[in-house]
Amino acid sequence: MPCSGERCRRVWWSAAAAVVAFFFVFVAAAAAAATASMYDDVEVVWGGDHSFFFMDGDGDALALCLDETHGSGFRSRDAYLYARFDVDMMLVANNSAGTVTTLYLMPDDVPWEYHDEVDLEFLGNVTGEPYTLHTNIFANGVGGREQQFRLWFDPTADFHTYSIVWNPKHIIILVDGVPIRDYRNTAARGGPAFPTWQKMRAHGSLWNADDWATQGGRVKTDWSEAPFFAYYRGLRVTPCAPSPGVAWCGDEPPESPWFDQQETDAAALSKARREHLLYDYCEDTKRFKDTGLPVECTIN
Ligand SMILES: *[C@@H]1O[C@H](CO)[C@@H](O)[C@H](O)[C@H]1NC(C)=O
Ligand SMILES: *[C@@H]1O[C@H](CO)[C@@H](O)[C@H](O)[C@H]1NC(C)=O
Repeated sequence: MPCSGERCRRVWWSAAAAVVAFFFVFVAAAAAAATASMYDDVEVVWGGDHSFFFMDGDGDALALCLDETHGSGFRSRDAYLYARFDVDMMLVANNSAGTVTTLYLMPDDVPWEYHDEVDLEFLGNVTGEPYTLHTNIFANGVGGREQQFRLWFDPTADFHTYSIVWNPKHIIILVDGVPIRDYRNTAARGGPAFPTWQKMRAHGSLWNADDWATQGGRVKTDWSEAPFFAYYRGLRVTPCAPSPGVAWCGDEPPESPWFDQQETDAAALSKARREHLLYDYCEDTKRFKDTGLPVECTIN
C-alpha cells in the first residue's frame, strides 16, 4: 500500500493507543510554546508527500513514510558549528527488514574532499529480530570508522532519545543519555582530520537499502507490508555559544568551559560498550591486516 496521511494515522493510532490528545495537522498548528516543534525546526527536503507532521500530546511529531516508490527525509532549518543534538525517535515496527532510518549531521553542499558527516543508521530486521545501530564518522571525505551496536530495548515500541554531542574535542553518541561512542579529535597528535570548521545540520531519513542493510542484504524489504513509518519528535539543539570576546565557536579555545561541560562519563561508556558493542573498526585486524589499524585507534 502506498504512503498516505490516512494510513499514517492508523498505524500511529495502533502503535500509540495510550496517546490521549491526538489530531493530525497538515498545516502549521499553533504549537505549544515551550515545546520543541518539529514543524518549526525542520524542513522536509525530499519525499514531501511521504512525510506527515502531526500533534502528539504537548508537541508535534514528524512521521517519515517509505513505500515502493520512495522514502523521505528532513533537515534542521539551522546549521551549527558545535552543538548537542537530541531527538526522540520511534523506529519502523514489525518487519522492518531492508529499511534504514537515520539521524545524521552533514554540512550543506561542499566538494566531497571537504565532506564531514556523523551518522546513525538504524538497520531494520525481520519481525522479532533486533535492529542494528550502525555509526560512522567522516571528515574531509574520509569515513570507514564504523561501529555498530545492539540496542537494549525495543526501539519500535516507544520513543527513545538519540543524541550527538559535537565539540572540538570529541563526537559523542548517546542513547537515552548513555554514551555508547566517543570519537576523539586526535588531529594534533598525528590522527586524522576532524570536523572543526564548517557548520552542519541535523538530518533524518527513512529509505530502502535492502541491497545491504539487513543480514548483509540477504533479507529484502517486504513491500506487501508497506507503507513503513518512522517517527521523530522534539529535536533539541544546544548550540555552542562563543565566550565573551570570541567571535565564533571555531575560535573557541579547546579549554573553553563550554566544551568541558561535555565530557563523557567514562565508566558508563565502557559499560555500554562492553554490553552493546557489536563491531568496532578499531578491533578489525583482519580488515586492516595489510595497512595496520587506522592511526587514531592506537593514540591514547
Ligand atoms: C505490528 O504487528 C501487530 C500485530 O500483528 C499489529 O497489531 C500492529 O498494528 C503492527 N504495527 C505496525 C506499525 O504495522
Ligand atoms: C537481524 O537479525 C539477525 C538474527 O538475529 C542478526 O544476526 C542481525 O545482526 C540483525 N540485524 C541486521 C541489521 O541484520
